[in-house]
Amino acid sequence: MKTRLDFIKMKKDKEPISMITAYDFPSAKQAEKSGVDIILVGDSLGMVVLGYDSTIPVTVEDMIHHTKAVKRGAKDTFVVTDMPFMSYHLSKEESMKNAARIMQEGGADAVKVEGADGVTPVIEALTFGGIPVIAHLGLTPQLVNVLGGYKVQGKNAEAAKKLIDDAIKCQEAGAIALVLECVPQQLAEELTNVLTIPTIGIGAGCHTDGQVLVYHDLLGYGLGHVPKFVKKYATLSETIDIAISEYINEVKTRTFPEEQHSFNMKKEELHSLYG
Ligand code: KIV
Ligand code: NA
Repeated sequence: MKTRLDFIKMKKDKEPISMITAYDFPSAKQAEKSGVDIILVGDSLGMVVLGYDSTIPVTVEDMIHHTKAVKRGAKDTFVVTDMPFMSYHLSKEESMKNAARIMQEGGADAVKVEGADGVTPVIEALTFGGIPVIAHLGLTPQLVNVLGGYKVQGKNAEAAKKLIDDAIKCQEAGAIALVLECVPQQLAEELTNVLTIPTIGIGAGCHTDGQVLVYHDLLGYGLGHVPKFVKKYATLSETIDIAISEYINEVKTRTFPEEQHSFNMKKEELHSLYG
């Protein structure tokens, strides 16, 4: 399993870091089999697999439940789990308890938290306690209602300056990597040069130290809207649609199951029931 030191080395060697989300046993198993560097149990699971319309309803219990399944499918891959909405804001103690549960019960190798203001002391405390933390800046979906929507962040000089300052604070607090979501590629490149920890981009251009995408988005598996920054490498929804329709049709026409899917017994056995 790769660790924090491997990711730092990859940054130094300019070897891009690949990250993908997974939410259950089969997705984790496939991600590990394909050789991904890091698996993220993202709180995007709220939208992608639980059907909520934001990440806000997701709970610590949800994250533990899904992390357990992912870790069972990817024992040899570094697994990072998102701390969900408000699970790291109430107090340092509450934040540490929640993160410890995600590691001890869920089996995560690190946690991810969004934002810098008010959050950097938590990054420091968790790191001090032995929990590696990945920071997440730019578009931070848990703050969607404060940001006023899912929009590109850091587009002007003032906002870019704040983002750079925040990123440095996260690094100084002990963050082992930084996810950058929906920021101009020029700013992402600048941040990648300024920081010693790896940057992992999503909607942040090609100059970051790594990339992350949501499993269902890159496979064309989900049914919802996908953002501009997604590239679909497959169209699984179409494949699934065709397969399920064909199954229904074969059930309705009694063409499934066939002999090869069925079990047999001697007719006499049945007849003997009635003497
Ligand atoms: O929850 C998630 O999937 C994420 C990634 C988009 C970075 O946080
Ligand atoms: Na997330």
